[in-house]
Amino acid sequence: MTDKLIIFDTTLRDGEQSPGASMTRDEKLRIARQLERLRVDVIEAGFAASSNGDFEAVRAIAQAVRESTVCSLARANDRDISRAAEALRPAARARIHTFIATSELHMEKKLRMTREQVLEQARLAVRFARNLCADIEFSPEDGYRSDPDFLCRVVETVIDEGATTINIPDTVGYAIPELYGNFIRMLRERVPNSDKAVWSVHCHNDLGMAVANSLAGVKIGGARQVECTINGLGERAGNCSLEEVVMAVKTRRDHFGLEVGIDARQIVPASRMVSQTTGFVVQPNKAIVGANAFAHASGIHQDGVLKARDTYEIMRAEDVGWSANKIVLGKLSGRNAFKQRLQELGIEMESEAEVNAAFARFKDLADRKSEIFDEDIIALVGDESVTAAQEHYRLLSLAQRSETGERPHATIAFAAGDVEHRVESQGNGPVDATLKAIESKVCSGAEMVLYSVNAITSGSTESQGEVTVRLQHGGRIVNGVGADPDIVVASAKAYLSALSKLRSNAERVPAQS
Ligand code: KIV
Ligand code: ZN
Repeated sequence: MTDKLIIFDTTLRDGEQSPGASMTRDEKLRIARQLERLRVDVIEAGFAASSNGDFEAVRAIAQAVRESTVCSLARANDRDISRAAEALRPAARARIHTFIATSELHMEKKLRMTREQVLEQARLAVRFARNLCADIEFSPEDGYRSDPDFLCRVVETVIDEGATTINIPDTVGYAIPELYGNFIRMLRERVPNSDKAVWSVHCHNDLGMAVANSLAGVKIGGARQVECTINGLGERAGNCSLEEVVMAVKTRRDHFGLEVGIDARQIVPASRMVSQTTGFVVQPNKAIVGANAFAHASGIHQDGVLKARDTYEIMRAEDVGWSANKIVLGKLSGRNAFKQRLQELGIEMESEAEVNAAFARFKDLADRKSEIFDEDIIALVGDESVTAAQEHYRLLSLAQRSETGERPHATIAFAAGDVEHRVESQGNGPVDATLKAIESKVCSGAEMVLYSVNAITSGSTESQGEVTVRLQHGGRIVNGVGADPDIVVASAKAYLSALSKLRSNAERVPAQS
């Protein structure tokens, strides 16, 4: 007999809390669709009460996603819970996830509430939520550092009020696998009505043990839901990584004896999409989704793998969605071949007009780049600076001059809404000159906290460059991503995209405040 492990993805909520990872409504919607293709059981789409933008994102995802349960976070108060319920109204399956801190430290210093007040607020919140939605998750924030006696009382109370999932967060990443596993087991054994709820684990990665702790919570503690994010995205050192937990449970089914509903072939596309959208690059040696995860450089390993694959491989690259770096399309490929490749890559277009626009961009790219890889198509479809119709700033044209011994010079034309601007500037290098020219008109005053260039397909200078620009202004951090065979053009696109986000994003309340 095997039972099922529920995969709860919180990339769009806890992952997005990572400074610089905030996403627009459309970006979240695109990722949610990919999470649905990945067949995650629950998508935590956001924190509806935190901002109008997040409310709209949760609602759009609730409307679009049909297979996965869509969830919104809510603090333990009526207003947050009502906002969550309202945003989730169009969902086929909805969940409200409400939380309040239960550790002495958080209750005393942050909430300034007594134990009894916290207990009462948790009770009333779950009672209120349960009247609006049948599927209620409750989290005692900083649960792992909470007094076990008090925690048992809180959990018993909220289960009595109708909570259907109990999630025990290691909010600050303090746990050790064996201790965390035993902690979950102890709670399940001591709470009298524990069998009325599904137990869930939620681990942060501050000591690099989020995945190990989550698996211990499952194996030792008997939890049947894991909360995780794509690429382990999340505040500070991040959250438990979805791809690692899923592949551990699938690969070591002999040990865990659990089923997961995930379609693992969608893991790499999901990883790429999240990395491209947030600008958080995946380290090459990252398990499962890192560029080197399946690369055998040493002669002994290569020899072994060629003779018998399982000498050095415990998983197959293609089973987690790696496709060979092969040329898929070229200049002569037609619209049908392009459309078919989009389908094979799991990229859905809303309308024929969108396919036509993407095809026009593909033709433009194919004129400048002889070999088009899957990665190029993914970048082309996801390039925010051309897809996001609501982007305020858009690149129109760019000319730059650089010569040994001369100061580089750039002239750029860009649109700001309906108005076209033409500006020029010098700089230390061509990219610097281009961004200075834009800034001379926009005057954002933003500080650049990250500028990075990555080759979309490795191994050749023919590759497109993907540029990420992270800007900080007035306490907010945003990312812009742009791709082009010319990295100066990619830089201009990325910068204009980041400026558009700075201009448009509304303020939001951080989840744990
Ligand atoms: O880490 C945490 O405690 C959380 C809760 C809000 C579930 O993200
Ligand atoms: Zn968290």
